[in-house]
Amino acid sequence: MLVVRDLTVHYQGVCALERVNFSLESGQLVGVVGPNGAGKSTLLKSMLGLVTSQRGSIRYDGHPLIQQRQKVAYVPQRSQIDWNYPITVKNVVMLAQMQQQGFWQFPTRQARQMVKRALMQVDLWDLRDRHIRELSGGQQQRVFLARSLAQQANIFFFDEPFNGVDQKTKEIFYSILQELKEQNKTLLIVSHDLGDTLNYYDQLILINRSILATGLPKQVLTPENFYQAYGHPLNLLSA
Ligand SMILES: Nc1ncnc2c1ncn2[C@@H]1O[C@H](COP(=O)(O)OP(=O)(O)O)[C@@H](O)[C@H]1O
Ligand SMILES: [Mg+2]
Repeated sequence: MLVVRDLTVHYQGVCALERVNFSLESGQLVGVVGPNGAGKSTLLKSMLGLVTSQRGSIRYDGHPLIQQRQKVAYVPQRSQIDWNYPITVKNVVMLAQMQQQGFWQFPTRQARQMVKRALMQVDLWDLRDRHIRELSGGQQQRVFLARSLAQQANIFFFDEPFNGVDQKTKEIFYSILQELKEQNKTLLIVSHDLGDTLNYYDQLILINRSILATGLPKQVLTPENFYQAYGHPLNLLSA
């Protein structure tokens, strides 16, 4: 179980997260929803210690999460990745393996097989020698999904993985999320718009600086909660 207690983050005096509390059970798909600027990306980054929090604790199986960073596969928002970095599809995924194995060694046969398997799972094996900048948005997102699979993590954090991706990528994503669920992984997906996929989620966390509601999707996305989060009654989430 991953437990977040009292998490509070300020950026130069601006409060991005205030006393956030929730817990994640393994084998559950949990979505974080809320408007732009709600603090969703900040939530993931502060859980991983990538931005400094002013207070709070994040514990996984009773120990601080930052001491177990290798158990977390994190895919940041697309805008935070340098797509011009000169690297091939295969090597992005191989890097995840090398992190486990040590960069000073040649990839083992097992590592190479793992990379192949991950790229086959996301249907990108044929494009393995392409430069990542030469891919579509959906294919790029799948490269990073493959990398997270090759990392063999227990916990997966995805930040806006569905922004600007095609239907095929979405389908592959959700079928892999389903498999990860069955493997009892801990899964946290951030999105400002889950659209027609809400039914896939076991739990939603509605956030706008602080948590406004948590629970089953239908309990969370009431008109009242929605209005409180977005400041207008339009139902963007199921549009
Ligand atoms: N590095 C930063 N420095 C200052 N303010 C930031 C920084 N990152 C985010 N913010 C601010 O914190 C708030 C939450 O941002 P963010 O976590 O990116 O929201 P979301 O991912 O929900 O769109 C916003 O008001 C944003 O402008
Ligand atoms: Mg964000």
